[in-house]
Amino acid sequence: MSNSNVTLTTPDHSVSLPLVEGSQGPSCVDIASLYRETGHFTFDPGFAATAACKSAITFIDGEKGVLLYRGYPIEQLAEQSRFLEVAYLLLEGELPTAEQMHAFEDQITHHTMMHESVKNFLHGFHYDAHPMAMLCASVASLSAFYHDTTDNEDPAQRKLAAIRLIAKMPTLAAAAYRYSIGWPIRYPRNNLEYVDRFLHMMFEVPSEPLKINAVAAKALDLLFILHADHEQNASTSTVRLVGSTGANPYASVAAGIAALWGPAHGGANEAVLKMLTEIGTPANVSKAVERAKDKNSGFRLMGFGHRVYKNFDPRAKIIRATCHEVLDKLGVNDPLLDIAMKLEEVALKDDYFIEHKLYPNVDFYSGIIYKALKIPTEMFTVMFAIARTAGWISHWIEQHEMPGGRIGRPRQVYVGATPREYKAIENR
Ligand code: CMC
Repeated sequence: MSNSNVTLTTPDHSVSLPLVEGSQGPSCVDIASLYRETGHFTFDPGFAATAACKSAITFIDGEKGVLLYRGYPIEQLAEQSRFLEVAYLLLEGELPTAEQMHAFEDQITHHTMMHESVKNFLHGFHYDAHPMAMLCASVASLSAFYHDTTDNEDPAQRKLAAIRLIAKMPTLAAAAYRYSIGWPIRYPRNNLEYVDRFLHMMFEVPSEPLKINAVAAKALDLLFILHADHEQNASTSTVRLVGSTGANPYASVAAGIAALWGPAHGGANEAVLKMLTEIGTPANVSKAVERAKDKNSGFRLMGFGHRVYKNFDPRAKIIRATCHEVLDKLGVNDPLLDIAMKLEEVALKDDYFIEHKLYPNVDFYSGIIYKALKIPTEMFTVMFAIARTAGWISHWIEQHEMPGGRIGRPRQVYVGATPREYKAIENR
């Protein structure tokens, strides 16, 4: 906490508000006493200028395009680490030693199975249910199966819930997919690594053995690293808001999955692919860009823009390069990539996109990679959810470990009717 203050003057009061300093990033005005001292609230729809908590997990500098997990640059993690190590880092705050990594991996591997009743639960869905609906419901249902990890005050139970969530998410995700296409659900293979195990559960068929493609596995692992956390985005804030009520970790993470689903957030990767398909050919790109600039069209360029990044999204930079590499190595020639490249080129030169500081975000190219890995479009946001689970549960745990936690309870500017008299129905 710094000693500096800012003074806010209203017609009736002058109040001195302390500044809160983090280890880096802009300082924040602590307005906790504002209502008490002045009778005013603050109004910040979309929380564009509001820090809702302190956190030591992820740092973003949106102007410079910097993303750090626990202090480590995303570029270094993408190049040198792997998803499970990143999950450990997010949860524990430090990179693991070889021994710690082995123990963590062992724990994850031995919690990958789902209760058979969860399978029955999934079978209750209609065959064409969206896998995000199934994932959200099945994760919420875990709280009914694991009573022994729902005492939020017990650090060991919190940790076990984290392990269970990270371990079971791919199992639940693959099961939702296989159910939707009428294939028998596959059990997790403990002799495989995290990402290989997921690909096996997704694609193995009884009629022939599956050879995991190392290029596909590496690409997926990279995408999981890039999506693992992103500080107080809408879904993580949802997990924290639900968590602030004392709700159990499974319910809190299920709420995060619901928040992720929307096209303004994690649903954008699915929306990008649909948009590129609709554009159809690079020749139609300029028309699409013009439409995106017309506010009356209701159309936005999906995969463009970010609340925090106003220069470039460092994850998009990595994904763009990977996209070309993966498609080359897998021998995939996807016309959607040509459309995406043309769209990026046209938009980045366009005054509207320049003035509004709109750049491709993490979801712009990820869908093309998922498609090359033969992951169906409805599963794209599910993939995001698998990775972000590491971030969500790290935030949920941090929230419970940090002293001074309070229920999240924003206020509003009421714009409804002022007091009036009730009228009997015959007089209305
Ligand atoms: N296409 C066209 N115009 C846009 C776009 C876009 N993709 N994004 C923002 N704008 C315009 C918007 O119309 C507004 O213009 P004006 O100031 O003239 O009214 C201005 O840019 C600011 O937009 P905003 O909606 O106030 O910005 P925001 O910070 O509230 O929203 C966003 C950020 C990501 C929701 C938004 O840029 C968007 O809808 N992008 C498309 C969806 C998308 O790709 N989402 C994934 C985000 S990254 C991954 C993740 O978080 O999951």
